[in-house]
Amino acid sequence: MNKRLVVFASGSGSNFQALLDTLAAGNYPIVCVGLCTDRPECGAETIAIKRGIPVFRIRRGEYSDYSAYVDAMSSILEKLQPDLMVLAGYLKKIPNEIVRQWPLKIINIHPSLLPKFGGKHFYGIHVHQAVLEAQEEVSGCTVHYIDEHYDHGDIIQQAHTPILTDDTPESLQQRVLSLEHRLLPEIVIQLLTDPIHHGE
Ligand code: GRF
Repeated sequence: MNKRLVVFASGSGSNFQALLDTLAAGNYPIVCVGLCTDRPECGAETIAIKRGIPVFRIRRGEYSDYSAYVDAMSSILEKLQPDLMVLAGYLKKIPNEIVRQWPLKIINIHPSLLPKFGGKHFYGIHVHQAVLEAQEEVSGCTVHYIDEHYDHGDIIQQAHTPILTDDTPESLQQRVLSLEHRLLPEIVIQLLTDPIHHGE
């Protein structure tokens, strides 16, 4: 039986694309059953449409109150029955109710070596600017389970890259992104195909 993957994304979707490409190339028994996005027409949405992956737009502003928003997200996920959810550049916080409903089923990728440079204000180029300002010698990316705080849950794995003397935030971002494109698919495949990781 194929494992069911749901991806959440708000941005260009390069991690989403890398994940889909790796899964397709290796013919893994994993199928992406949905993309959830808070940003209609973002790059990730275009990728999903091209591949025939159902898109679910979930925007807080379209619901009268927070609990209606959470209920809508919850019922989408109930229907999709994911074995794993991946936040691949998803900028909104996943509601605590959802985190509690799906323990150890939601992972995130973050472009720094957590716990350094994580939290609400560390996203996109800001992360790499902060890493260079702090004169770090090494950076990288982290895949972790999510909990009720931004960039905080248990770390699954990290990939590292040295900081080069002529690095700019942009050059570092590109190098870390290439690491992300390898690390994220590797962890997804591990979690969904290795019985040790999902308790079967
Ligand atoms: C990545 O750097 C990821 O680590 C972070 O958001 C960015 C998304 O990039 N959470 P992309 O949309 O996958 O290109």
